[in-house]
Amino acid sequence: MNLELLQNLTQAFGPSGYESEIRDVIRHAVTPLVDEVRVDPLGSLVAIKKGAGGGKRILLAAHMDEIGVMVTHVDKQGYLRFTRMGGVSPLTCIGGRVRFANGTLGVIYVEHREDRSKPPTLDQLFIDVGATGPDDAPVGVGETGVFARPLELQGDRLISKTLDDRIGCYVLISMLKELPPVKHDLFFVFSVQEEITLSGARTAAYTIDPDMAIAIDVTSTGDTPKALPMAVSLGKGPAIKVKDAGMVSHPEVRQLLITAAQKAGVPYQMEILQGGSTDAAAMQLVRAGVPSGCVSIPCRYVHSPSEMVAAPDVEHTVQLLLEAVRSG
Ligand code: ZN
Ligand code: CO
Repeated sequence: MNLELLQNLTQAFGPSGYESEIRDVIRHAVTPLVDEVRVDPLGSLVAIKKGAGGGKRILLAAHMDEIGVMVTHVDKQGYLRFTRMGGVSPLTCIGGRVRFANGTLGVIYVEHREDRSKPPTLDQLFIDVGATGPDDAPVGVGETGVFARPLELQGDRLISKTLDDRIGCYVLISMLKELPPVKHDLFFVFSVQEEITLSGARTAAYTIDPDMAIAIDVTSTGDTPKALPMAVSLGKGPAIKVKDAGMVSHPEVRQLLITAAQKAGVPYQMEILQGGSTDAAAMQLVRAGVPSGCVSIPCRYVHSPSEMVAAPDVEHTVQLLLEAVRSG
């Protein structure tokens, strides 16, 4: 693992719609590795690696945006009230920290509640940025913040904010570093706004008009105490998506990925995710339809400030995808 690259990817600021900082990090990493880099009108970064000819147009997408918060108002005492950008749960917020684009750090806490038998709601939470009123608050209405948590390595596990989906961005960049000559034209899309609308991948897929699209994202696991039963575990290999809440994978894409895993000799799992979806759900619906699938990196505590993946799963995902674009 290139921990320095993953450090830069996970720590860069990039809530949905405000991806310029993370886009610069990715652009810097991919520019020497591809034939062409462009930014589309909504902000997705597209890195193109031309094939030897006679192949397909294959789109590989990882989203570069992250979940976060947006300030809705500042109260009389200077506490920020906020709404969520993507799937932020109040349960994972209390005592946590958020950082805003201008560097301001805030602590999230909760109002006193008489009835603590129920979990708090988002409107009972506030962010303390050290202000005493609306006039001296260092951030204002409409500004966005993201969780502040470092990347740490614990054994072979990687723990950080925003592994969803910076670990997918890491996989695409790692592929580019190891890519052999292939016949297919490959379009590496680092999409915007996945966490709120999937709009970046949708519009990028329209422009690219691919023959096949594959999303690379994280998925939940069924291997924590009283987890929703699910046949995906951390450390047992990349998960090839069969179905999630937004799509059924195209059978040919699913089979291509299974065959690639077997040829590459990497462990793999089949994923049926009951809640949530990925860029693949949007990409399969552009134009006349695009055969789409998804390779997922198993991840515990998705959308919390401390997401966890296993480093071997990441390496195996890279190997699986390299084989998929070799054969494709
Ligand atoms: Zn994601
Ligand atoms: Co997500």
